[in-house]
Amino acid sequence: MNLLITGGAGFIGSHVIRRFIKNYPNYNVYNLDALTYAGNLENLKDIENYSNYSFIKGDITNENFINQLFKKYRFDGVIHLAAESHVDRSISDPLAFAKTNILGTMSLLNAFKETWKENCSDKLFYHVSTDEVYGSLGESGLFKETTPYDPNSPYSASKASSDHFVRAYGETYNLPYLISNCSNNYGPNQFPEKLIPLFINNILTNKKLPVYGDGNYTRDWLYVIDHAIAIDLIFHKGKIKETYNIGGFNEWKNINLVKVLCNQMDEKLNRSKSSEELIEYVKDRPGHDLRYAIDASKINKELGWKPSVTFEQGLSITIDWYLNNKPWLKNITSGQYQNYYNKQYS
Ligand code: NAD
Ligand code: TYD
Repeated sequence: MNLLITGGAGFIGSHVIRRFIKNYPNYNVYNLDALTYAGNLENLKDIENYSNYSFIKGDITNENFINQLFKKYRFDGVIHLAAESHVDRSISDPLAFAKTNILGTMSLLNAFKETWKENCSDKLFYHVSTDEVYGSLGESGLFKETTPYDPNSPYSASKASSDHFVRAYGETYNLPYLISNCSNNYGPNQFPEKLIPLFINNILTNKKLPVYGDGNYTRDWLYVIDHAIAIDLIFHKGKIKETYNIGGFNEWKNINLVKVLCNQMDEKLNRSKSSEELIEYVKDRPGHDLRYAIDASKINKELGWKPSVTFEQGLSITIDWYLNNKPWLKNITSGQYQNYYNKQYS
């Protein structure tokens, strides 16, 4: 099997690549990544010399390049993770999200369709998406696979659009596809602009912890390796043309999560002064979705998946990883990162 994984140098993609390289030595795994600010080959240092792994630097929006690549390798399977993934960046640069997330996904779909034409029944295009396509929940309720799409940010609108195109190619060209919509991930190797790694880095460097609005926004958090396990299961056992919601059964209001994070960090760093003092309520994010929560009963019943670690365990492993990988963090937070940080939080 020639398997293309896009966005493999990013946060979730690197964990997916590692899992597939190690668990399926008979697959040739090709990691296609443009190495944007979020892509980092350091994330894959430990597996870069495996004989079944190859890295290809390239942009999914470059149609000619993508067509040539599919001609050359005739990928039997695609797991598509490459995307612009940060809501705050989508607010300041929405077009970049439309290009990568919509047009990039379409150029992959097109190349896949052209490669296999009518002979694609044993091939698979697996699109990795987000629960944010469903919009915002009120105080109660859960996102099901049948919840209508109602995206509110340029990020979630672009992901929703890409999901629609995947389904449209499935219906129109009979292309075998799978989609999963997952809740917020956390874990090692996450770029420190998303809530948890940003706050870990700020606690470490004694910087303010900028909580948007009143901090009463709720997210459902999942440990990244549990997402990678779910992707593996869905890729191998999912029912073609189906969607699976993936979630942590683990809802936290942002402010409560930040307090747990502060306590765990203070314990590990032996700090007597509470890091909670660094919390600062700042201007809210425009169009901020109040609450996300996933009903993951379908993947649980059909594929037997459930999270393998509790939130406290996952968070502890995550903090330890950042404490033990300070050079990784330092490299990533120098240069361009400072410009982003000053623009976003000044
Ligand atoms: P990330 O931002 O950490 O990584 C994205 C990767 O895609 C990077 O390596 C980047 O270099 C690459 N990339 C970006 N534009 C590209 C392009 N034009 N061509 C080729 N490569 C490009 O993202 P992540 O958090 O790992 O998310 C991966 C996928 O999972 C995304 O599709 C995202 O929508 C989805 N997702 C993320 C979460 C989450 O909590 N992080 C939750 C659910 C779903
Ligand atoms: P984030 O990690 O950006 O994920 P998403 O927006 O995709 O859910 O944000 C998680 C939550 O944390 C979200 O409600 C916004 C909030 N947040 C802050 O309060 N401060 C911050 O500096 C960031 C980055 C996020």
